[in-house]
Amino acid sequence: MEANDLPILRYLYRHARPRRHLEFGTWEGRGALGCLQECDATVWSLNLREGETNEEGRWAYDAWLDEAEFAPGNSIFTRTARNGRTVVRTDALGAIGRLVHEHGLGHRFCQIYCDSRQWDSSNLPDGFFDSALIDGGHTEDVVTSDTLNALRLVRTGGLIMWHDYCPDVTAQQSCSSIRGVVDAIHQLAPVIRRHCGDWFWIEPSWILLGVRNDREYER
Ligand SMILES: C[S@@+](CC[C@H](N)C(=O)[O-])C[C@H]1O[C@@H](n2cnc3c(N)ncnc32)[C@H](O)[C@@H]1O
Repeated sequence: MEANDLPILRYLYRHARPRRHLEFGTWEGRGALGCLQECDATVWSLNLREGETNEEGRWAYDAWLDEAEFAPGNSIFTRTARNGRTVVRTDALGAIGRLVHEHGLGHRFCQIYCDSRQWDSSNLPDGFFDSALIDGGHTEDVVTSDTLNALRLVRTGGLIMWHDYCPDVTAQQSCSSIRGVVDAIHQLAPVIRRHCGDWFWIEPSWILLGVRNDREYER
């Protein structure tokens, strides 16, 4: 993400200049930071409070404390010992969104801690956001739920971006996160088409881009 796709997202934020941006899946806040640094947006972002656990029951996002960029002894991280070394959970409370705070941009950052499938967005009006990035859980049900929320909450003319989308079959075979996103997009294709008209894979990235299109929506 950071090496290949983040510059593309930064380019989109720099030119589209959203004022209100929504991001499913905060992790350490690298994507949110990109948006906050490229324009004047306020960013709302959701993440599981305790972090994601993979199919084998292990932490999905972690790092060696002594190899990562964390200050040793920093008590905000959830940690455990493995093979005599300390491992920190990088997508649990304390670490979620930390890069935004380390860059002093917390005053434009609204964090929501929940499973995005349980998010109650009913107090937010339709079209509240100028853009949304769907990059949280990558199973088909989570991507479906996040996409349906984004389609309601992004305004006409706004951008909807999905990360971990790639139509290349080899990439899909080697990466379960891509399969989940591709399956969800495939299932939701008629709904997305109704709201966005055409949508675009930014080749050769892992980003799919749609523009909310009122004309198509009203048809
Ligand atoms: C790929 S990372 C997000 C990367 C981030 N967008 C960035 O730009 O750096 C996915 C994140 O989604 C979170 N996540 C996974 N399933 C989720 C769910 N059902 N609801 C909310 N967050 C979830 C994980 O904890 C993880 O932090």
